Amino acid sequence: MSTEVRVKHTTPAVMAALDQHIASAAMLSTKYKKFHWYVSGPFFKSLHELFDEHYKQLIDIIDDLAERSRAIGGYPVGTMREFIELSLVSDADGTMFSPLEMVETLHADTDKIIDALHEHIQLATKDNDPGTADILTQVTQVYQKQAWYLAETKARKVLGEF
Ligand SMILES: [Fe+2]
Repeated sequence: MSTEVRVKHTTPAVMAALDQHIASAAMLSTKYKKFHWYVSGPFFKSLHELFDEHYKQLIDIIDDLAERSRAIGGYPVGTMREFIELSLVSDADGTMFSPLEMVETLHADTDKIIDALHEHIQLATKDNDPGTADILTQVTQVYQKQAWYLAETKARKVLGEF
């Protein structure tokens, strides 16, 4: 009996989409951790904790997507070089960020990833891979909840004063 794992229920385009979301979550998680360390000001505790909470959710997303790829015969990206190459979002250079700038860039990145997820859910459905479409849908829900938290945080007008 062959031990070769074959891709039976998806397409290379769907595999590529999984890789793109693994890379994006890896990059965004790094940005969250940096902001978790760098944030300061009157909202330190809530932002410090929020950024770490979202970071942990992204680590779970990376694992879920990579294991989905393996489950359907893929070899997901797993190097920093690939993460940088494929990510939809960039990391955060520099040392001076206001809390508002942190929340705004994280929100913009999250929206960008959500837009791509919507396209990729349609792609997986069209390519007869409802399992991957379902996982991408669950990931979308996590990102949408994060976007909501970020939007509400940003809505505090007083944050703009720092
Ligand atoms: Fe920490």
